[in-house]
Amino acid sequence: MSTPPTILVFDSGLGGLTVLREIVRARPDAHYVYVADDAFFPYGHHGEDEIIARVVPLVGELIEAHAPDLVVIACNTASTLVMSHLRDAYRLPFVGTVPAIKPACASSKTRRVSVLGTRGTVKREYTRKLISDFAQGCEVTLVGSGELASLAEAALSGQKVRDEDIAAELAPCFVGDGANDPARTDTIVLACTHYPLLLERLTRLAPWPVDWIDPAPAIARRVADLLGPAASDQAGAEMIFTSKRPHALADALTPFFGGRVPA
Ligand code: DGL
Repeated sequence: MSTPPTILVFDSGLGGLTVLREIVRARPDAHYVYVADDAFFPYGHHGEDEIIARVVPLVGELIEAHAPDLVVIACNTASTLVMSHLRDAYRLPFVGTVPAIKPACASSKTRRVSVLGTRGTVKREYTRKLISDFAQGCEVTLVGSGELASLAEAALSGQKVRDEDIAAELAPCFVGDGANDPARTDTIVLACTHYPLLLERLTRLAPWPVDWIDPAPAIARRVADLLGPAASDQAGAEMIFTSKRPHALADALTPFFGGRVPA
């Protein structure tokens, strides 16, 4: 019987759990190490050089400590900057998370798409290039949110988050003259892994219905393709906060780990 692979999933905080959840479904046999770099959260408020200088050596230390078979950078704000640096520095497969602009523009009927990400992600050259390569004639509105990732962290940690605060971050995504405008936004790319944590509330607070594009299932398929056939048993999971804070989130976390209680 083959040994279960170890998959390291990395984000600035709890957002990468939305990617982990899909990978766990695709590879229930794997051993998972989830790392939240909460000591440096939110990445969206840091400069590009700072993020590269933080993430590249930190991922190197994590590879050394946990010997993963594959690393997933479950963070758009980091992936739009660091993937080539990581691939140059370390010899193992990396999978990144970048704004799903291509599928969003391919499926939009009104040809108006919004990309909701951190302020860092929407400023990136990488994101602009995705739009110029894959907009396919769609009008793409970039919306950089300063607060939504922190609001998602607070909500998952059981704190009260007001609808008005979420709605204010969401409002600029909705372009058009209301629900009857045939050219209104009909598709929103969730370009930050924290945002699917709030999906029910985003859907409820949206001024009109839209399709929300979450890249997590596609990332999980890519991971499964790279790893090859699954082993038969389910392995364990660990959760690491770089701040070293003890986590009291076990009940909230286990669904993301496919029912495992992370050590
Ligand atoms: N989860 C991260 C992303 O996908 C960013 C949140 C942050 O640290 O600002 O972009």
